Amino acid sequence: MLAIEIRTPGGPEVLTPVERPDPVPSDGEVLIAVEAAGVNRPDLMQRRGAYPPPPGASDLPGLEVAGTVAAVGPGVDGWRVGDPVCALLAGGGYATRAVAPVQQCLPIPRGLDMVSAAAIPETFYTVWTNLFDRARLRAGETVLVHGGTSGIGTTAIQLASARGSRVFATAGSDQKCRACEALGAECGINYRTEDFVEAVMALTKGRGVDVILDMVGGPYVARNLSALATEGRLSQIAVMSGEAAAVDFRRVLTRRLTITGSTLRPRTPSEKGVIADALRREVWPLLESGRVKPVIFRTFPLVQASEAHRLMESGEHIGKIVLVV
Ligand SMILES: NC(=O)c1ccc[n+]([C@@H]2O[C@H](COP(=O)([O-])OP(=O)(O)OC[C@H]3O[C@@H](n4cnc5c(N)ncnc54)[C@H](OP(=O)(O)O)[C@@H]3O)[C@@H](O)[C@H]2O)c1
Repeated sequence: MLAIEIRTPGGPEVLTPVERPDPVPSDGEVLIAVEAAGVNRPDLMQRRGAYPPPPGASDLPGLEVAGTVAAVGPGVDGWRVGDPVCALLAGGGYATRAVAPVQQCLPIPRGLDMVSAAAIPETFYTVWTNLFDRARLRAGETVLVHGGTSGIGTTAIQLASARGSRVFATAGSDQKCRACEALGAECGINYRTEDFVEAVMALTKGRGVDVILDMVGGPYVARNLSALATEGRLSQIAVMSGEAAAVDFRRVLTRRLTITGSTLRPRTPSEKGVIADALRREVWPLLESGRVKPVIFRTFPLVQASEAHRLMESGEHIGKIVLVV
């Protein structure tokens, strides 16, 4: 197969096309003939050497693919060679063949092409488990999504608004704020020109929001706690601006706040399978009706993975970048 290897930790130029033997599906695994692979920010961290694959995972980058089933390993029921499939991976997506545990495979939602399907797993699994499982966001509640135009943010805005929440989102330009609003946010907040705590307080008449989904961390942590309503929940999915924070815990006590967070990649296939079941039940109907759509910013041929990484590092994108075979 053709694969994109990380030659050595470094910049986008270290992504190198190579020939490798096809992976062989083991017990409970499906071999996928990849047609498209999503690019995610964790791939950039892995390329720089800051996010090693978990034990047993492929050393190749790539956390999500769409394609067709090329072979099934022992003990796999429900999938046949030729079935269209999209899958969450612990690695190995930047290749023309990839293996996925069967629990992490989902049918391609009716009406979606391979590029859109490849853009689903990583952000939809992540948003589902952090926003709806851990932070327990319910219809009628308010939510603030930081990084509103990221792959994660565009998914979170759409899912939260489709499920009946009032959504606010932060982004780094007015144009990105308008994009958040087009996806269902009631108000995009330009964090470069506005204080998001003040904006949220004004939008909620001083109450604060019920839930915050944050990938920034560092100086945002204390400000997030100030922007939460009583019984509010902060779900931390990354710490792009720093992993340490000084927090006045009296606020946590007096407002009965919950701080949570998680990373998806090291979780077991059966834990990921529970998330997949929820997505199929709760989210696939929204994708098939067109109420929720992966936002595709740009595609690149697989061999131009380094160009795709350069674009993601520029921060110009709104939504997802996808590699096509
Ligand atoms: N916990 C998990 O399981 C999990 C899973 C997947 C992804 N993640 C994390 O979720 C985040 C989003 O991932 P993605 O693939 O959706 O990324 P992405 O599309 O590249 O989005 C990142 C966006 O965040 C915004 N941003 C805000 N503060 C930033 C900062 N300090 N540095 C860089 N960007 C900043 C940027 O837009 P602006 O112009 O608005 O600043 C940027 O476009 C990443 O941090 C990733 O590691 C976590």
